Amino acid sequence: MTDNQENTDAEDASPSGSPTLQLRPPCDRLPCHKSSVCSRSYFVVVMVFFHVYIINVIALLFYVHYSSGQEDASSSSDAPSGGGQPQRSEARRPSPSKPDFVRDVSLTRIEGIRVGHVQKVSLVPGRVHEMKTLSLKPLLFEIPGFLSEDECRVVMQLAQLKGLMESQLMVQEGQEELAKELDLSPEEIFNLLDINQDGQLQLHEVHVSFEISYAVFPARFLLERGVKRSQLVRNSRHTWLYQGKGAHQVLQEIKERVTRLTRLPASLVDLSEPLQVVRYEEGGHYHAHHDSGPVYPETACTHTRLAANTSTPFETSCRYITVLFYLNSVDGGGETAFPVADNRTYDEVSLIQNDVDLMDTRRNCDKSNLRVKPTKGMAVFWYNYLSDGRGWVGEQDEYALHGGCVVTRGTKWVANKWINVDPDYQRQARYQQLVSQLPEWWCPRPAAPTSIPNWCCLDVLL
Ligand code: OGA
Ligand code: CA
Ligand code: FE2
Repeated sequence: MTDNQENTDAEDASPSGSPTLQLRPPCDRLPCHKSSVCSRSYFVVVMVFFHVYIINVIALLFYVHYSSGQEDASSSSDAPSGGGQPQRSEARRPSPSKPDFVRDVSLTRIEGIRVGHVQKVSLVPGRVHEMKTLSLKPLLFEIPGFLSEDECRVVMQLAQLKGLMESQLMVQEGQEELAKELDLSPEEIFNLLDINQDGQLQLHEVHVSFEISYAVFPARFLLERGVKRSQLVRNSRHTWLYQGKGAHQVLQEIKERVTRLTRLPASLVDLSEPLQVVRYEEGGHYHAHHDSGPVYPETACTHTRLAANTSTPFETSCRYITVLFYLNSVDGGGETAFPVADNRTYDEVSLIQNDVDLMDTRRNCDKSNLRVKPTKGMAVFWYNYLSDGRGWVGEQDEYALHGGCVVTRGTKWVANKWINVDPDYQRQARYQQLVSQLPEWWCPRPAAPTSIPNWCCLDVLL
């Protein structure tokens, strides 16, 4: 029996037989009734709050998801696409280390697919060249017959007409002054470089001080102090050939072919260093090196110095790509060695182990992972930097370490076409903008130490 039934029975059982309403205080009945109403409404209110709370949480999750999704989308749509001149404009970027601008140029990077992969490329009308992948680390290709025999001959003749200079005789202006300011005698400098103080310069000491010795040590000085030619980082002669307007047609055509090969904007190739022609005599070599150094936020590029706001203590040549041409087939030795190409890991320390210095191209070329035999007209090219994943220049590719093995018979002629790109997109864009306002006879100068001015295009009119 329920409470309610009990109450009804009690009402019916009145002695008079007439139904009388038992006058109980209303609160006697109501509490029960009221409590059930109250708990129901309480439940409803709690449920409403609960739902509102859940909806709020879901809405918040959606908001967070979509707002981060939009950021992703905006950063990926920010990635450069298309060609033409880099231009500067403003937009928000998430990372404070990245400058605020929208990039509208991306650098095509040719795919290597796998070692040995051959792709057909159209570089000259009526002919198809084959481009073979030699390694993926660095991304390295070879293109046989890139230059014709005649073109090789013309380039060597032009270089000879201009005259080749000892590669390590170059003194960089500015650094020369710095040496004067420091007021160090050659002996004092020698002392500084002689790390183990044995009165001789060992190969690794020359390596360490390569930049310094470049600046203050003419090779003659080093040779007089008992440094053997073989100990020099480089034992060759070179010159620079301009490829701009007015240059020999062969030189201009090579530049255009390089643009087609690398699929980079013509403006980048046009504003890169001139063609460097190198000659190694018998016994010549170039120890393993990087054509361009690592870049840190404070590093400036030699080619965009014009557009740099401040002077920076570090400078590198920012050679994104190296295209190396073999102008003759060498009778003995002279291979281009890539000691650590496609190594699983790169470890600077393991480059010198058990007295074996992999950077020593006079003794240890046979231990290099990869060697390219110089073959007349062939070109090899590789990327000295990785991609930043957004279509521009990223970090230095340490695997791009390479050198010229000792020439054991005959002479070796090569030419380098370096394509300079500033990893700082904005600085590259500013530089291109500045240069576009200069007179036509202005031309880019070598990024290597040189006293050659920018106003020298006339010297190509041979
Ligand atoms: C260079 C170079 C390699 C070679 O000139 O920078 O690496 O085989 N040359 O001569
Ligand atoms: Ca020493
Ligand atoms: Fe090199």
